[in-house]
Amino acid sequence: MARKKIALVGAGQIGGNLALLAAQKELGDVILFDIPAAEGLAKGKALDMQQMSTIERYDSVLTGSSNYDDLKGADVVIITAGIPRKPGMSREDLLDTNLKIMTNVANELKRVCPDAFMINIANPLDAMVYALKKITGGTKQKIVGMSGILDTARFKSFISSELNVSMKDVTALVLGGHGDDMVPITRLTTVGGVPVNELIKKDKLDAIVDRTRKGGAELVGLYKTGSAYFAPAAAAIEMAEAYLKDQRRIIPVCTWLEGEFGINELYFGVPAVIGANGVEKVVTFELTADEKAMMEKSAASVRKTAAETKL
Ligand code: NAI
Ligand code: 2OP
Repeated sequence: MARKKIALVGAGQIGGNLALLAAQKELGDVILFDIPAAEGLAKGKALDMQQMSTIERYDSVLTGSSNYDDLKGADVVIITAGIPRKPGMSREDLLDTNLKIMTNVANELKRVCPDAFMINIANPLDAMVYALKKITGGTKQKIVGMSGILDTARFKSFISSELNVSMKDVTALVLGGHGDDMVPITRLTTVGGVPVNELIKKDKLDAIVDRTRKGGAELVGLYKTGSAYFAPAAAAIEMAEAYLKDQRRIIPVCTWLEGEFGINELYFGVPAVIGANGVEKVVTFELTADEKAMMEKSAASVRKTAAETKL
């Protein structure tokens, strides 16, 4: 069986970690792409990780390139091309710059690998996925965004730290847009099968929800020159792996909604089954009135930013 080909558009902080995780998991061969000015970064990271393969013992072949033609035949493309936040910036502040970059990236991907499963990471996340879909004309099954796995990971990690128990026993779900209005569903969050509301007092849980919503900004404040990159890379690789291995995982993804959860014609974070066909199905369930109100607030923010793309 031929190896799968994983193309990473953007060889920066997240791009490098995506490459390493994809190679270590032997998901396929990896191509790191960046603009000509950063071609050395793409080629350097690929060479460095290729040499690392003899120590870490993975068979994936890694290459770097600034030529889009090298992406032909890619099964999965993960996009991080764009600028990250600096302290004081919101994700929405990135729109103008990152939309120009996305326009270029999407046109090239449409030309070289239109049938790939495309996972966008660049911010503002939900609006950038919308732009990717509009410009490539790809299907809603194949064009998705990564945010819910990362936001859920942050929520789960704060809960496991608060209770001083294994993260393995925490089950949670964060829905909505990748912004300060995201929607952690505490009602369905359990630890070892026990509802989290029974284990953590309301004020503490509210503080964890708040910290989750501001989880990206917390890291920007610490790093100062950019945003998070380890957990975001792991989150996107989980999505790529579910697709490549037809795992049929139910994971929160930014996907195109057509009425699910009462939200129409919007890229938004909801649980979905990811398998060999991409987004196979959006998994819906009954929301409480409070949850519905939070989803609508988050959807309104995402809709506003998506409209600003004028696509
Ligand atoms: P970075 O600055 O380290 O890497 C971005 C790379 O994109 C750079 O190497 C740059 O040369 C490249 N690039 C710029 N223009 C390009 C173009 N036209 N074509 C191809 N490549 C181009 O940034 P980092 O930390 O990797 O973050 C990337 C993006 O991911 C940012 O927009 C950031 O806000 C976003 N992000 C999203 C998260 C999410 O949950 N969805 C989480 C963390 C970051
Ligand atoms: C994050 O959540 C900045 O979106 C980025 O880390």
